[in-house]
Amino acid sequence: MKPVKVGICGLGTVGGGTFNVLKRNAGEIARRAGREIEVAQIAMRSPNPKCDIANTPVAQDVFELVNNPEIDVVVELIGGYTLARDLVLKAIENGKHVVTANKALIAVHGDEIFAKAREKGVIVAFEAAVAGGIPVIKAIREGLAGNRINWVAGIINGTGNFILSEMREKGRAFEDVLKEAQALGYAEADPTFDVEGIDAAHKLTILASIAFGIPLQFDKAYTEGITKLTSADVNYAEALGYRIKHLGVARRTQEGVELRVHPTLIPAERLIANVNGVMNAVMVHGDAVGPTLFCGAGAGMEPTASAAVADLVDIVRAMTSDPENRVPHLAFQPDSLSAHPILSISQCESAYYLRIQAKDHPGVLAQVATILSERGINIESIMQKEAEEQDGLVPLILLTHRVIEQKINEAIQAMEALEGVAGSIVRIRVEQLN
Ligand code: HSE
Repeated sequence: MKPVKVGICGLGTVGGGTFNVLKRNAGEIARRAGREIEVAQIAMRSPNPKCDIANTPVAQDVFELVNNPEIDVVVELIGGYTLARDLVLKAIENGKHVVTANKALIAVHGDEIFAKAREKGVIVAFEAAVAGGIPVIKAIREGLAGNRINWVAGIINGTGNFILSEMREKGRAFEDVLKEAQALGYAEADPTFDVEGIDAAHKLTILASIAFGIPLQFDKAYTEGITKLTSADVNYAEALGYRIKHLGVARRTQEGVELRVHPTLIPAERLIANVNGVMNAVMVHGDAVGPTLFCGAGAGMEPTASAAVADLVDIVRAMTSDPENRVPHLAFQPDSLSAHPILSISQCESAYYLRIQAKDHPGVLAQVATILSERGINIESIMQKEAEEQDGLVPLILLTHRVIEQKINEAIQAMEALEGVAGSIVRIRVEQLN
């Protein structure tokens, strides 16, 4: 059979990795796909010194590639929203299948892209968009298809996890570790996407859609980054038996779907709490299977290429199949998506870590306890440290039971108004993940 012809748009970290893996593992890949997969054209802004493209035709621009009638599958690895959207829609219009690693594109424009793809009977595959090399899209969409999924929680940004791990283990400075993550090709073009949780929210939006059968609703995701975390909180969390991870949580409740990304205390003994460096980990809880954990490299050249190439193999296997009988893009049949609403963060439920800077007076602890009990907030544990030398303030660290966020917000406001409490209260959400 004739080889399947692939065009790669973008020869950066993931594009370069995809090119190299396709070349290096060509024989093994063809044995799996049933046909050879040939890179017939590349469009790139600048050459990648890690790729030998000597015999591969190079297009003048990405639109020359998507309009090339020879190309069967377009691999979009340029990133961003606007040009990538135009490029993918044009490829679909031209009847080409698409592979993309672009989570921003899928989270924001996915519904439009999938509708167009259905109209044209082509596949848009996006395994590489979420959690790098971990085949978690396939696992949820196919492997867990018998379950009613209750929640998904994951470390889904490699850069953020790399930064938190290096800061905790080696006491390195935030900026210094971020620079290293950029040099290693982990970080987004705009690294605020990584450290402010936007990248993780893109991925969580996709995971929630395929887990619960809801439309993609990135604009409703709550996003909080890691830039305000202090080593004091990392150490207090440790003393209480927890680790702080930047977590994406999507949970189905009676009232709606929680969709939130924020720093989170997780019990130190959980496997996921021990996933460090650029590794990602996604827990999926299904009613039949119970808790599952998928772990692997969440960013980087070849781990992400591994997912993109797997998508290519899937496409080659399915390209002659009836489009009506393929796995739906978002796991559920498009006419069966649910309108279950996304909850605002104040409606979400979680336990909380609170750090209060108390003045060293009698009665402050009693007032704090009264404010919490008046709102029905149960204290799980409490830790009081000695007064700090420089300001004489006493750090009071509390862990609460689970409560709706609105209640904790009200309690924090009341506590901050106390004469015996100095400055703002630090609040970090806590998840047991059991
Ligand atoms: N910047 C992303 C990360 C790349 O660090 O996880 C992979 O999506």
